[in-house]
Amino acid sequence: MKADITKALVEEHRLILRMIALLEKNAPRTAEGKYLNWQFYLDGIDFIRQYADRFHHAKEEDVLFKALVDNGMPKENSPVAAMLMEHDQGRSFVRAMEAAVQEAQAGRTDNYQTIADNALGYAALLQDHISKEDDILYPLSERVIPETMRNGILQGYQAAEGQVSPGFGIRYDAIVTQYEQE
Ligand SMILES: [Fe+2]
Ligand SMILES: [Fe+2]
Repeated sequence: MKADITKALVEEHRLILRMIALLEKNAPRTAEGKYLNWQFYLDGIDFIRQYADRFHHAKEEDVLFKALVDNGMPKENSPVAAMLMEHDQGRSFVRAMEAAVQEAQAGRTDNYQTIADNALGYAALLQDHISKEDDILYPLSERVIPETMRNGILQGYQAAEGQVSPGFGIRYDAIVTQYEQE
């Protein structure tokens, strides 16, 4: 059997989608002025930056997508290029959401809609992005990437995991669970 190079990434998507569900639940209430827990947004932004971006997207950008390109997928105008562009779009939603949350925390009361728009924009982008990866790009990777490249990919994931502190995944799972119970 060929070594599985996408299973861990699919599992990480599940936790990212749970945070996205929280954004979708809370953002409309923030827009109405009924949910003003700024710490949730700050924790959400930290989750997105550390877990979704620095950890998960780094495995894609530095390891799996690189392997697809090494294996012959074009770098430009290709599925990999589209995924990288969406990672960047996600980062701009997060920057805009953070700026608005910081202003709200400092007392501004007329930008709740901006917070909600960026949270929901991020949520919609990432849901669509994750289904393209789960349904198209990952299955394609499993089909085209030869056995000879797979150990290197798994080692690349391990290196990414070595970059984070022990208990990293458990800690972020606990933060998501905490807000699910709110
Ligand atoms: Fe991605
Ligand atoms: Fe992903």
